[in-house]
Amino acid sequence: MGNILKKSSKSSSKSSSKSSSKSSSKSSSKSSSKSSSKSFLKSSSKSSSKSLFFKKNDLLTNNMKIKDVINYDKSENGLLFNKYKILKTISHGLHGIVYLVEDNHKNKYAYKVEKISEKELINNYDSSVLRQLDFFENIAKKYPNNFMNLYDYYITNDCNFDYNYILKNTFHKNKVLAYKNLPYCIHYFYNLIDSTLLDLLKSWKYFKNKIFNALLLQLLYNIYILNLHGYTHHDLHIENVGLVKTTEKYINILNKEIPTYGYYVQLIDFGKIDHNKYHNNNLNKNSLLIKKYKSDLIGFVYIVVVSKYFNFCKKIEKTQNVNMLKKVSKSYPPIPLHKLFIINNKLSELLNLNISKNYYFKYTKYLQTILYQILYYKEFQQSFDTNYIVQLNDFMSNDDIFFVIKNLYDPYKVLEYFLQKFKL
Ligand SMILES: Nc1ncnc2c1ncn2[C@@H]1O[C@H](COP(=O)(O)OP(=O)(O)O)[C@@H](O)[C@H]1O
Ligand SMILES: [Mg+2]
Repeated sequence: MGNILKKSSKSSSKSSSKSSSKSSSKSSSKSSSKSSSKSFLKSSSKSSSKSLFFKKNDLLTNNMKIKDVINYDKSENGLLFNKYKILKTISHGLHGIVYLVEDNHKNKYAYKVEKISEKELINNYDSSVLRQLDFFENIAKKYPNNFMNLYDYYITNDCNFDYNYILKNTFHKNKVLAYKNLPYCIHYFYNLIDSTLLDLLKSWKYFKNKIFNALLLQLLYNIYILNLHGYTHHDLHIENVGLVKTTEKYINILNKEIPTYGYYVQLIDFGKIDHNKYHNNNLNKNSLLIKKYKSDLIGFVYIVVVSKYFNFCKKIEKTQNVNMLKKVSKSYPPIPLHKLFIINNKLSELLNLNISKNYYFKYTKYLQTILYQILYYKEFQQSFDTNYIVQLNDFMSNDDIFFVIKNLYDPYKVLEYFLQKFKL
């Protein structure tokens, strides 16, 4: 540990914190909207090459180094790290809390504090901290509109953690408690997003197909950029899709003007970010296969299906007092056996592999659930002991979803398909 507690380091994040004071203004969305049109243009010109590629340089760590551990400053002046004032709690996850903070210059940020283990402080890609830094440095900075950006971070040997707040609000008490005794804390300072896709869906009295589809195109475009550079977000769901308000009416996606309806879609939460370069080469055959099936388009399909069921969930949550969204996402209810047979056949056809043999395909269960929920949507809803059945929204047909599953590894093709298909 001695070598961890060094005085200072030339960390890449220094430059990012510098750039923050330059680029982040009172509303971070404003600052990013400027650079964004550029980034959209830049990437659309690249778009003709649809294969997955990354430059050799990307494979290097760019001398990236995790910052040293410092003593947690109990902040005599009420400021965190002599700089940030906590304004309010925004949200919490399993391991941490997200706050709204403001710096000396009144720039606002999202401040996420999490417990981490000693393992995270190693300067190689076994560390999820280093993986995230790599992503923020190499990709997020280049596409400030499409991905949340990191402006500053610190690692401390203690922190101001309000575990009671998390415990009070979580469904997973044991998992939360498992993190409680970890020795270190990481403090991330991000640009603010205005809301998440979940917040937007909750705020709608009725489902707005056109707006939803336009936002889906932005989401697909972001998935395409990740894939283009060899990254997988790996944790896409409606709470990890951020929305940043913009006054720009249109954005350019593959040379098409797409209405923003006032929002840029910005991906957040890179705790599970993945890239081939993070893995060493002696993977066995099975893990290679699992790796092959990692695809953010699986998260995309999941987001579509959950959204189709959103009105149903809202209704059922009220009458039966359950967190339906969690159930729709967590392979619930169990699929009847005779249906499973039909579903596996369909899945084998779409993925062009024999599902019953590929039991180690990590996402089989996930996709089975999705197919069950769209093919047998009445039965699925009736299993919740209700007479209230919603016809699924027609913003995306089952055939469209099949198309995505068929092309899980080609986000470009899927993006082109929906760019043509959606009438916006
Ligand atoms: N940059 C941000 N601006 C505003 N809210 C945020 C930001 N990042 C996260 N949040 C809020 O906090 C929640 C949890 O953050 P997230 O990074 O997804 O943590 P977890 O790993 O716990 O899911 C998000 O779903 C979102 O509501
Ligand atoms: Mg999250």
